[in-house]
Amino acid sequence: MLEFGRALQRKFRLEAGVDFINHGSFGAAPIEVLDAAERWRERMEANPDHFLRDVLPDALRNAAGDLARFIRADASDLVFVENATAAINAVLRSLDFKAGDEILINSQSYGAVRQAVRYVCERSGAKAVEPRLAVPVAGPEQLVEAFANAINHRTRLVIVDHVSSPTGLVWPVAKIVASARRRGILVLVDGAHAPGQVELDVPAVGADWYTGNCHKWLFAPRGCAFLWARSERKSLIHPLAISHDYGRGFTAEFDWPGTRDFSPWLAVGAGLRFMEQLGADAVRDYCRELAASAAAKIARAWAQPMAGPPAMHAAMMAIRLPDALQQPGATREAARRLQSALMDRHRIAVAIAAIDGALWARISAQVYNSLADYDRLIDAGRRAPS
Ligand SMILES: Cc1ncc(COP(=O)(O)O)c(C=O)c1O
Repeated sequence: MLEFGRALQRKFRLEAGVDFINHGSFGAAPIEVLDAAERWRERMEANPDHFLRDVLPDALRNAAGDLARFIRADASDLVFVENATAAINAVLRSLDFKAGDEILINSQSYGAVRQAVRYVCERSGAKAVEPRLAVPVAGPEQLVEAFANAINHRTRLVIVDHVSSPTGLVWPVAKIVASARRRGILVLVDGAHAPGQVELDVPAVGADWYTGNCHKWLFAPRGCAFLWARSERKSLIHPLAISHDYGRGFTAEFDWPGTRDFSPWLAVGAGLRFMEQLGADAVRDYCRELAASAAAKIARAWAQPMAGPPAMHAAMMAIRLPDALQQPGATREAARRLQSALMDRHRIAVAIAAIDGALWARISAQVYNSLADYDRLIDAGRRAPS
């Protein structure tokens, strides 16, 4: 039986001496999953022509089947994409917006999503509506209400996070989705952080489209994500790269986006097996409890608030940084500078976000982390980086 914590780091290629408490940003794949991807690449290189023409189509659908079982979906409603950014762009850029339409995001939406919405708005004359969500969030009802208040007869599309990037808050997505769909509005759930971090039944969320990354919390190699579509919404959506199979249906169009390295998609099953060997429930419980304990310890040491109640979190939590680490203006650039300084000077990999004029540290907890991994961050917060 493998023990969670520092001992599990040997299963990953993480650099020794770094407190890696930012699994959330880009994930980290176990060595055995990277090896599985390498074996797929070897098969491809041995006979590229045969592999890409004859082996890949079934192998890809088998991989989609493995993933579909894990997220309780039907494989025919599920396609692979490079990342959540690509899936969100595919949805946004497949729909026809016109002047007067509104696309509802919010002040905690991921920056890349905000820019993609801005792009389609600039081209179509639609408008992005972005209600401000005050942090710390008091409870799930605050988020449900913010959406309900911002929806009106012009709202064409709602994009709602399942787990929000700057705060790590787990949103009451099913409620938000249901209230939008009752009013005939299309809903895309940005579940970039959800698969693996929260228990997931994608169809039960009830959205029109749902995207999730496998390279964050499902241990897949980087460049592996999915887009799920409700059956009657599949025909509306096309991949960003239109290719040979345009017009031949959802899975056919997405399964051949042009020549590429398909090994991250084909190795998704190896990531799932890694998680299942450890026990998917045990992994989620360990990460949630460690994130909660670490965040409570940090918040106590710094005498600062957390971004929301522990019951709204899974494996990520944000804590306001103490004054010693706050920067004038608390801009995105200041957050990036501080994040780099924490790595360069203290060997800490942690996400820093600017929220409403203050900087916050978002910690992640993964199976290779232990409570001691957060101690250097606590110390760094007690003094400005020197
Ligand atoms: C909420 C949210 N949406 C989308 C993304 C984009 O993910 P990716 O870079 O894998 O496309 C992220 C990345 O962290 C995110 O946090």
